[in-house]
Amino acid sequence: MTIDYDQIAGEYAQHRRAYPQLVEHLASLVPPGGTVAEIGCGTANHLRGIAALVECTAVGLDPHARMLEVAASAEAGDRATYVRGTAEDLSVLGIPAGGADLVFSVDMVHYLDDPGVYAAQAWERLRPGGWFCTATDSEWIIRNRLPMTAYFPGTIPLELARHHAIEALEEAYRAAGFTDPGTRVFGEEGTLADATRFRDKANSVMHLLPEDEWRSGLERLEADLARGPVPSNNRTCLLTVRKPL
Ligand SMILES: C[S@@+](CC[C@H](N)C(=O)[O-])C[C@H]1O[C@@H](n2cnc3c(N)ncnc32)[C@H](O)[C@@H]1O
Repeated sequence: MTIDYDQIAGEYAQHRRAYPQLVEHLASLVPPGGTVAEIGCGTANHLRGIAALVECTAVGLDPHARMLEVAASAEAGDRATYVRGTAEDLSVLGIPAGGADLVFSVDMVHYLDDPGVYAAQAWERLRPGGWFCTATDSEWIIRNRLPMTAYFPGTIPLELARHHAIEALEEAYRAAGFTDPGTRVFGEEGTLADATRFRDKANSVMHLLPEDEWRSGLERLEADLARGPVPSNNRTCLLTVRKPL
């Protein structure tokens, strides 16, 4: 089953938040006047955050027109431009070969059958010394996500099946020529007081869960929330590689 982001763009924008420290970190990789592209930008929280922190040319790409419309209508949307397309062909970005300082994605790479094709495309757009960054869920993040795994344990095999392992991505990126791999986890831990994002299926894996599993998990979550907040975390693993100078 695939996810129709055109259909869920409204709910997505309502619930989706950028990881603030990830935005700051990515912005630090873009020199003033530089060029950054977010691939699979969706409603472009991260790209807009970067464009607000550093004066730069910012281009967001996504296959779903409705996600791009929401991105363009958001505050600071005018600081970025948006292009419809996929990670498999980055020539549509309008960035000349070797013209980008940073190409990145957040929660997108698991949609690609062959991340090596994407890496080769990013390589083309990046200048020597440019950064290629991929924020995605590692196995550890998937197995330890709360409250998701406590109430919807069926999401664990679904997420593991659809995500590339960090080691596999690293290998594909090395094969494309990238060097200096490094990983860093961004995110936060806290509590959740409200089940709305689970009721609205704001996380795409909820759309893959059988309806009865989603309903029974939601009922248990709502019952526990009636007694008080439950533990929660929101994390992503950033894999960074570089095009050699
Ligand atoms: C989970 S959303 C993440 C959106 C955004 N990066 C964020 O962090 O909010 C995944 C996005 O990947 C996009 N996507 C799916 N397949 C893609 C592909 N082949 N190339 C580029 N983007 C793709 C979807 O349209 C969707 O907007």
